[in-house]
Amino acid sequence: MSECNVKILAIESSCDDTCAAVLSGTMLLSNVVAGQQVHHDYGGVVPELASRAHQQNIVPVVDIALKKAGVKKEEIDAIALTKGPGLMGSLLVGVSFAKALSIGLNRPLIEVNHMQAHILSHFIQTPNEEYSPPAFPFLCLTVSGGHTQIVLVKDYFDMQILGQTLDDAAGEAFDKAAKIMTLPYPGGPLVDKFAKEGNPKAFSFPTPHITALDFSFSGLKTSFLYLIRDGKINNPNFVEEHKNDLCASFQYRVVSILIDKITRAAEETGVKEIAIAGGVAANSGLRNALQEAAGRHNWKVYIPKMQYCTDNAAMIGITGYFKFLRSEFAGIDLVPNARFEFGRTPAGS
Ligand code: KG4
Ligand code: ZN
Repeated sequence: MSECNVKILAIESSCDDTCAAVLSGTMLLSNVVAGQQVHHDYGGVVPELASRAHQQNIVPVVDIALKKAGVKKEEIDAIALTKGPGLMGSLLVGVSFAKALSIGLNRPLIEVNHMQAHILSHFIQTPNEEYSPPAFPFLCLTVSGGHTQIVLVKDYFDMQILGQTLDDAAGEAFDKAAKIMTLPYPGGPLVDKFAKEGNPKAFSFPTPHITALDFSFSGLKTSFLYLIRDGKINNPNFVEEHKNDLCASFQYRVVSILIDKITRAAEETGVKEIAIAGGVAANSGLRNALQEAAGRHNWKVYIPKMQYCTDNAAMIGITGYFKFLRSEFAGIDLVPNARFEFGRTPAGS
């Protein structure tokens, strides 16, 4: 077995998507995601329902991933899985399944941090496509439903968090704004869709005054809530009549907050390789704004394909592969960690 055709089966179940992928080295052979419709009417993920759906989905999802890859389960060299962060019940399904498979196949386990994996998704290679991953060191703006971070990536596993949200994550802000407008969960993609038809300057929202490279989105959410509450006093159809402008203006402010901070991080570190990752990296406003900023600041930007922005197991597999090369295997006694952290700068430094 040469290192470049090591076969990794990866499993991701940290939130509400049941995902499996197979990689040969850095090359992606299959990537399967089963979403969960069950949360749409609740305005957010219901943890108990998520774990039950993972339990139902995991066997067929893994089976399909192996079949699509054309790989027999006996040909797998290692099993990579998400240890955390995420919902404990959801993580337990993936971890327990991976352990059972590891014992059955007599193959090692590799535990992966979900947030590191979002960043390393930039190293996934796809057949017949150009492969140009970022060069170290690069900055990654990781924006998802649970996290908003600026990370200085010095090497695959040498990552330093330079700033993060003090309250809501960017994706959470999108989802909460959508909920205020009574749009179903997850609202981020819908806000993005309606924003395309709206005027980003129709409504203005305050810019948070947060020091250093940290973020805050809770004030923005509150001013959005008040705008709609006040608008409805005189016009019960306020949201319906202004939906596109509301979405465009809200998105404009979130994106400007994100771009301001990554610009500052680039200035402070002198790094000009800039990547984005996580579910909100699928946002068209953010993707366009990053391209524009790249032109202004002479950055080289890395914007992942849509399927590697939101949760997927391909990113767990690529991270697992780099750990395989370092022989970093986990014991069968591994446990999920809902608050699994990495790269935190010690206080005062
Ligand atoms: O990374 P992800 O799939 O899961 C987490 O690890 O949290 O991110 C999900 C988040 C949700 O909040 C969702 O609304 C948001 O990403 N999202 C978007 C878009 N697509 C997904 N937000 C804004 N615009 C989008 N196009
Ligand atoms: Zn994620």
